Formats: sequence, C-alpha cells, structure tokens
Amino acid sequence: MHTMNILSANNATSSYDAAAQARLFRLVESRRATILAIETSCDETAAAVVRDGRSVLSNAVYSQIPLHERFGGVVPELASRNHVDQLGPTVQRALSEAHLALTDVDAIAATSHPGLIGALLTGLNYAKGLSLALSLPFIGVDHIAGHIAANYLDHPDLAPPFLALVASGGHSHIFHVASYTDIRLLGRTRDDAVGEAFDKVARALGLGYPGGPKLERLALSGDPHAIGFPLSLQAGLDFSFSGLKTAVINQLHTAQQREKAPLSHAQLADIAASFQHCAVRQLCEKARAALKQTGLSTLVLAGGVSANRTLTQQLLETAQNENALFFSPSPPYTGDNAAMIACAGYYSLLTGRRDCLDLNAEARNRY
Ligand code: KG4
Ligand code: ZN
Repeated sequence: MHTMNILSANNATSSYDAAAQARLFRLVESRRATILAIETSCDETAAAVVRDGRSVLSNAVYSQIPLHERFGGVVPELASRNHVDQLGPTVQRALSEAHLALTDVDAIAATSHPGLIGALLTGLNYAKGLSLALSLPFIGVDHIAGHIAANYLDHPDLAPPFLALVASGGHSHIFHVASYTDIRLLGRTRDDAVGEAFDKVARALGLGYPGGPKLERLALSGDPHAIGFPLSLQAGLDFSFSGLKTAVINQLHTAQQREKAPLSHAQLADIAASFQHCAVRQLCEKARAALKQTGLSTLVLAGGVSANRTLTQQLLETAQNENALFFSPSPPYTGDNAAMIACAGYYSLLTGRRDCLDLNAEARNRY
C-alpha cells in the first residue's frame, strides 16, 4: 500500500518516526507548510519552494534542451544522467533563492508519474532520500495534476470546480476538476497528444526540437486558411491528432515532389498555420462541448501547449461565448516546473495523505 491517511487509526509505519507524524498533523491542522518539490519527468530538472500551497518562494528550472537539440528529440538515457548531475545544484538554487535552508522545509514532494521512467526515478529517489534524512512527510505527485495546479499559482481566486484542458507533449485530456484532489477524466486523445503532433509536424517542416514554439513562430507569417486539413470532431469528448498530423506530412511531401525544390518560407508558413488552426479548433470545439455537457462555468488550460498564443486567444473566445471564465498559466508555469508539483502536493497533504518510501515511479499515464 503506497498511501496512508494520517487521520485514520493505526497509521504508524516503519518509514516515519513520531516527529514526522507530528509535523504532518501540524501541517494539516494549520494549513501552513513550506514544501520543497522536485520535478524530473522529462527534460527539465526542476526544484521549487512553495509556502502554503500558492506562494512561490523560488522556482528553479534547469533545461536540458541544449543537450537533446542535436538529436532532434529527448534521449531518455541522457536525460536521466543529466538529472543526476543537475539535481543537487538545482535544489540548492531553489533553497538559496527562497533564502531558506533544508531545516526550514516542512514536507517534500516529487513527481512520481507519468513520464520517462529513468528520469522520474532520479527525482523521486532524491526526494525520498531528503525525506528520510530530514524525517519529513513525503508525497508523490501526478504530473498532470501538477500542470492543472500551475493555474492556482497565477490566479489566487481560482478554486474547483472547473473544467481543465491539459495539452502537453504527452497529454490531451479534458477533466472535471471536482475538488483539489478529485480530478475526473471526461475525454482523452485516442492517439497522439497535441504537443506530440506539433513536435512531429515541426520536425517534418525541418524546424527541429523543441518543435511547438518554433512551429508557432513560423505560423505567425502563414495563412491559417491556406490548406483545409481534416478536422477530427467525432468521438465525443475524446481527441485525435494523428490523422491531422499524417495529412500535414503527406501534404508537405506532395508539395516537395511537385516543386522539385525546397519549399519557400511562405509555403512552409502556410502549412504550419493551417495545421495549427486545425489543432486549435479541435481543442476549442471539445472544450465548448465539455462546458455545455457539464454546465461548468470555468475553463482552465494547462500543460506545455498552453504557451501557444493562438490557442489561449481562441479558448478565451470559446469560454466567453459559453459565458464561462477562462484561466491559463503565465510563462514560468506553462511548461514543466516544480512549483506546480509543490502546489498539487500541498493539496494532497492537506487531505492527510502522504506516501511511504516504497512509492515507485510509473511511466504510464493513470488517466
Ligand atoms: O508540459 P510540457 O513541458 O511537457 C510534457 O508534460 O509533455 O509540454 C511540452 C510540449 C511539447 O510538445 C512542446 O512542443 C509543446 O508542449 N509546446 C508548444 C508550445 N510550447 C511548448 N506547442 C505549441 N505551441 C507552443 N508555443
Ligand atoms: Zn509536462
């Protein structure tokens, strides 16, 4: 059993001493806690210190982009090894930017799933080591719950219930967030995630890694209506991006064969803009349908693709047309970071939950 409720009887475990139990009780009672969180699920080594769930004292992110760039994508083994090198300095940076020492920390949180298994294990084991050495409560955090929680850091008044659209390199999911810890799946991608489709199309366009932001930049100078790619609007609240991705790549190859020369910047920009238009429309149409279906009056966007301006603008319009409020994270919290993990961890700890040190990392998505 990985999780235990401190509010239930007989909850002592060999992993935690009485001081750790008392510390967790105080945290739950007072709702006050300084949490040190670690995130290493993919290609960012991140550590952050967050007070009382929403007040970010530091948010240190070490990006591995330069390491993976020449391979055109993330190389898992390199990512894990680099996390091992960077974890110590990044945690130190988070503490010093917060002007705190390890002894000021009340609890430790770390992403435990989903992600690259080797990468997850580095951060999770580091966090468990700190928890054991300092006798602090420890909690493993779901990466998607973390992305949703990123919005709490920017928007002090935001509270459940709301509809959350998570759009990242690994996820295209739509959730009914009933409470801080009750997150119910309404729909998910049946194939590629939207960020994955951005990355694959960007690679075909010769833009390299990371593809999403580069494709968005190229699309700025293109015509979003130049090419009518297929829109996948069936399947209820589920998404599908692989048909769109394949249609774009086929279009690109056909145009290249026809031209018998490299495509011009304007032609590439039209393809990028037309792809982005269709991907964004699918996300907006599903969000609109989910708002109607649930009757919820707040729409929240989360995940790396929330950095995309066309998406945020069009989701805002979608929400307004449905008389709903719209929230999305600010730039430090769109991509992977540890402040969002601290925030999600805080709300889990408040329920009295905490994890034992045998908690394992999991590559697979639980939703
Ligand atoms: O949340 P994230 O940092 O990592 C995962 O949990 O997957 O998301 C990364 C994804 C990548 O696929 C990246 O290309 C995409 O987010 N992304 C974007 C933009 N910025 C990042 N996609 C479209 N437009 C952007 N501006
Ligand atoms: Zn992420």
